[in-house]
Amino acid sequence: MARFDGKICLVTGAARGIGAAIATAFAQEGATVILTDQHADEVASLAGALGQTGIEQDVACEAGWIALVDGIDRRHGRLDIVVANAGYGWQKPVTEIDLADWRALIAVNLDGVFLAMKHGIPLMRRSGGGSIVAMSSMYGSVGAPDTAAYCASKGGVTMLTKAVALECAERGDNIRVNSIHPGYVMTPSVREVLTPDQVDALRMQHPVKRLADPAEIARATLFLASEDASFMTGAELHVDGGFTAR
Ligand SMILES: NC(=O)c1ccc[n+]([C@@H]2O[C@H](COP(=O)([O-])OP(=O)(O)OC[C@H]3O[C@@H](n4cnc5c(N)ncnc54)[C@H](O)[C@@H]3O)[C@@H](O)[C@H]2O)c1
Repeated sequence: MARFDGKICLVTGAARGIGAAIATAFAQEGATVILTDQHADEVASLAGALGQTGIEQDVACEAGWIALVDGIDRRHGRLDIVVANAGYGWQKPVTEIDLADWRALIAVNLDGVFLAMKHGIPLMRRSGGGSIVAMSSMYGSVGAPDTAAYCASKGGVTMLTKAVALECAERGDNIRVNSIHPGYVMTPSVREVLTPDQVDALRMQHPVKRLADPAEIARATLFLASEDASFMTGAELHVDGGFTAR
């Protein structure tokens, strides 16, 4: 029997990068996976290859969350695992950030995780419990120059996770809520945006002198979602090659 046999698992931002690796790993370990992403064609294509369901979603849209969870309820009648992964970042000095750009980033990186919890938890409660993994970052625990918006959003995810973990624990929901904090991960978008010299500089910032592979973040995510992490809730799991250990 596979580790996630019979589990209904939702992964946001699943068309590419870390989310794609997470969705693939869950599917390989027996879960029924609902992959969502703003890129409809890409998510449908990956989901099709995995024999799973791909759905277009903007995680910042509350109406979309209501329709998505309602659809999962009608089709599967339960929801066991939510990985709130969708997010993005850019760098700019704080004095140069447009308010509209700040709000757009917070809407995806923080509102998107809040909405996942707000609308996922009621169905998870009716399913008898479950596990939520929120995608934070090492920059949800430590700061970095020119990264104010991203750090604020990911720091928000870190504390949102702890607050909701306590809420679920106190209610006896049997829902564990944890955040995961990758260092830099060698995703296609990192490869596209950064020059080889920039990638080398990033490597050297990590004590292990390399970037993560998306599969390494996926393995840690599956651990948090699994019964192996049954006594973990409200935790920050750093998967950052030692970046925040200094
Ligand atoms: N790559 C890294 O180095 C790194 C490090 C730490 C944390 N993270 C976090 O991991 C998560 C995934 O990052 P990634 O590197 O795989 O990025 P990526 O750009 O490769 O993939 C992100 C996916 O999220 C989707 N997405 C973005 N906005 C969305 C929205 N509004 N609604 C639905 N989908 C949306 C994108 O279409 C894309 O498919 C993000 O939350 C990111 O902040 C990444």
